[in-house]
Amino acid sequence: MRDTKAAIEKLYAQAKSASENAYSPYSGARVGAVVLDQDGVIYSGCNVENASYGLTQCAERNALAAAVSAGMKPGTADTLLIYATGFEVLAPCGACRQVMSELLADNALIISCHSETDFDSWPIGELLPHSFVLS
Ligand code: THU
Repeated sequence: MRDTKAAIEKLYAQAKSASENAYSPYSGARVGAVVLDQDGVIYSGCNVENASYGLTQCAERNALAAAVSAGMKPGTADTLLIYATGFEVLAPCGACRQVMSELLADNALIISCHSETDFDSWPIGELLPHSFVLS
């Protein structure tokens, strides 16, 4: 979905709802992410923290893992929307950019919302130019 406003209208409520499931006793940040695939199916994830901090899983990677686990064909989804509290507008972490770059479509649009009217958006190639690939 190339139209940012239309994507927000379609996906915002589900990303916000996913953020309510966040397990984040250490940071208090609640992050929800949804992936929209080619067939209009929506997959969601939230951040899941751990007392061993480095094991924390971000919402974006959890949404993508849920999508692939449910049968989404890697490289086909063209929209990922993030909703986050506890940040201004969350710019995805580097690990999530690498995973998005491999699992989303080449031209995928990443939208990060603080509210329905306060958001930023980037094509994945702008968030992570020259991603790592195995040749
Ligand atoms: N977090 C995400 O869910 N996505 C990101 O792109 C960056 C950070 C989460 C992980 C952790 O639970 C909290 O935000 C603070 O880093």
